Amino acid sequence: MPYFMSLCVYFLMTLSPVRTDTITEDIKVLVFLPQNNSYLFSHARVAPAILYAQQRLKANGGQFSGFHFNIQFENSDCVSVNDALFVLVDRSCEQKPDLILGPVCEYEAAVVVRLASHWNIPVISAGALATGFSNKDTEYSHLTRIAPSYEKMAEIFTAMFEHFSWKSALLLYEDDKEARDCYFTLEGVYHLMTNFNIKIYAVNQEDHFDTDDILQNIYDTEDHLLSKKRELGNV
Ligand SMILES: *[C@@H]1O[C@H](CO)[C@@H](O)[C@H](O)[C@H]1NC(C)=O
Repeated sequence: MPYFMSLCVYFLMTLSPVRTDTITEDIKVLVFLPQNNSYLFSHARVAPAILYAQQRLKANGGQFSGFHFNIQFENSDCVSVNDALFVLVDRSCEQKPDLILGPVCEYEAAVVVRLASHWNIPVISAGALATGFSNKDTEYSHLTRIAPSYEKMAEIFTAMFEHFSWKSALLLYEDDKEARDCYFTLEGVYHLMTNFNIKIYAVNQEDHFDTDDILQNIYDTEDHLLSKKRELGNV
């Protein structure tokens, strides 16, 4: 009996270090950031934060200290839309990443997230804010956005319009025909505010900025509202 007891104690002692050990695993992280420093989310600005996170996660005794985050930075300049996609495909021929951070720009993110979702690779992006990305059932199932999407902004607009009993708006935006951030920003508003009288006016960067035409559009929107009010006998 005493022999059996000591055997139990011995077992507990040998087992206990195993139980408290953290899991050891290599995690391959592919990060898309532009080298071009004119972007707010450029490599020079964001990479230090990612490397700091890597260092903190590795800190001794931490919950995730057993994970080894192998970080691979890649350029994504938002202009050559398919470059990030091709990098993902080329790298995956060797070994698929376990996690992707970025891209931020809408068009670049779209192609990368679609392929990553197909391959079950999670993507975390500070961008990809357009309305289309809310489709989490299929194409963009593996995307997590860490910034409020344009639809969230549209919810604020809707609340404002309801609060002030506003009924109509003219959405005036500049379309650069490249990253199209302004287009996607107002697209969210347009999609969510179908119950309001919304008119759209796009300004092209290369075109002459036609102030008269813009003003006429503003007046037309007001006239339209006034005639509607008259119809209802409110004016
Ligand atoms: C960096 O980005 C800006 C804005 O998109 C662009 O005007 C500029 O030409 C780019 N610079 C380089 C070196 O690609």
